[in-house]
Amino acid sequence: MKALVLGGGGREHALVRALSLDPGVTDIHCAPGNPGISELAENHVINATDGLAVTELAARIRAELVVVGPEAPLVAGVADALRERGIPVFGPDREPARLEGSKAFAKEVMEAAGVPTAKARVCRSASQVSEALDEFGAPYVVKNDGLAAGKGVVVTDDRALAERHARECGRVVIEEFLDGPEVSLFVLSDGVHALPLLPAQDFKRAHDGDQGPNTGGMGAYAPLPWAPAGLVDEVMESVVRPTLQEMNRRGTRYQGLLYVGLALTSRGPRVVEFNARFGDPETQVVLDRLATPIGAVLQATDTAGLKGIGSLQWKPGAAVTVVVAAENYPGDPARGDTVGGLAEANALEGAYVLHAGTSWSGSRDVVASGGRVLSVVGTGTDLAQARERAYAAVSRIELRGSFHRTDIAERAAAEL
Ligand code: AMP
Ligand code: GLY
Repeated sequence: MKALVLGGGGREHALVRALSLDPGVTDIHCAPGNPGISELAENHVINATDGLAVTELAARIRAELVVVGPEAPLVAGVADALRERGIPVFGPDREPARLEGSKAFAKEVMEAAGVPTAKARVCRSASQVSEALDEFGAPYVVKNDGLAAGKGVVVTDDRALAERHARECGRVVIEEFLDGPEVSLFVLSDGVHALPLLPAQDFKRAHDGDQGPNTGGMGAYAPLPWAPAGLVDEVMESVVRPTLQEMNRRGTRYQGLLYVGLALTSRGPRVVEFNARFGDPETQVVLDRLATPIGAVLQATDTAGLKGIGSLQWKPGAAVTVVVAAENYPGDPARGDTVGGLAEANALEGAYVLHAGTSWSGSRDVVASGGRVLSVVGTGTDLAQARERAYAAVSRIELRGSFHRTDIAERAAAEL
C-alpha cells in the first residue's frame, strides 16, 4: 500500500513511524512533513488544506490511503475532495468534522444524542456571558466556538479574566466545570462500526503540577493503570454509539477518528470535547503500543469497513512521551535555534525522538520552527521504566531556552 500523510507535527511523525513498521505499506509520503519524518517518508511541499493540491498529489503518487493528521484540512473539506475522486481517506468530511470545528455544534449533537457532557450555554453578547458565568459559577470555563489549536479554552477562578477571554473570542461556549481526571479515548469509525484504541492521558497545562496556560499538550502516557475496569465499554455505549447514530440520522456519516476527551467525574464519565483527528501527543504513546499493522485498519474506515478487522492487538508494557517546547510557548515561540543531541537521544535504549516544530536551516542543521519542537517517547515494561527512559533521552536534547514538564506520568508510575 502507498500512503500519504497530511501534516508535519509529532502526531504525523508517529503515524508515519507506525506506517513504516507495517509490512503491508510499501511507500510513505508526507505533506509537508518535517526533518524527522523525512527519514521515513518522502516530504512534499504543498498546502495541506487545499483539496485540489492534495488530490493531485495523491493521484500522482497513486496513494491508496491518505491519512489526514490535523483538523484544519478536515474542516476545509480535504477529505470530501479525496472521496469524490475515489481515493481512500482516513478522516471525516467537512460537515461531520464540525464536531471539532464548532464547540456549539458538538454540544448540539451531544444533546440530541443524549451524551453525558457539561451543561453549556452558547453566548453572543456580554450580557449572555455574564448570565452564564453567574449560572455556572467558578471555576469558569470559557471556550472559543471555533478552532484555536488547543488554546481557545480558559479555565479560571478569575471572573475578569473569564470575561476578557469571552470578549476576545466573540461567539463562546460557557460551561459547567467538570472535576476529575481526564482521559483521551480515540475511536476508529467507519460510520457504523467503531473500534476503540487504548485510553491515554495528556498533560495540557504548560508547567509542572498543572500550572500555567493550556497548550496543545505537553506529554502523555498509556496505558492508564488507574482507569476503572469497563471504562472503554461504558464510553462506547454512552458516547460513541449514540454520537455515530446521531451523525447518521443527520445524513453526515462520521468516518475516521473520533477523539473523545473525557473527565471522569464522581457522576461518571462526561465528554469535555470531541476532536475529529488523532490527539497530539497522545497518539505518540497509543501508536507505540499498537501491535496490529495500522495501514489496512485506517484504510478500512473508508473502504471495507471495520467489521472484518476484529479487535486490535496491543503490546504489553507502557509508553511515555515528553514534549520539548520552545522558549515562550504557548505564546509566540522562539524560532531558529539549533536543536542538538538528536542522535544521542535516539541511540538510548527504549527511547526515540519524534519531530514536531523543526525545520532545516540553510546549512542543513535541524532548527526549532514551532512551539512544540519535538517529543521524546520512552518505552518499557511499565510506566516507571518508560518514564525513566523518556527523561534520560530528554536530557540529551540541547535547545536554547527550551523547557519541558518533569512530571509526565509521575503519579501514575508511582501508584503502581
Ligand atoms: P478543550 O479544548 O475543550 O478540550 O479544553 C481544553 C482543556 O480545558 C481540557 O482538556 C480541560 O483540561 C479543560 N476543560 C475544558 N472544558 C472543561 C470543563 N467543562 N471543566 C473543566 N475543565 C475543562
Ligand atoms: N492533546 C490534545 C489534542 O490533540 O487536542
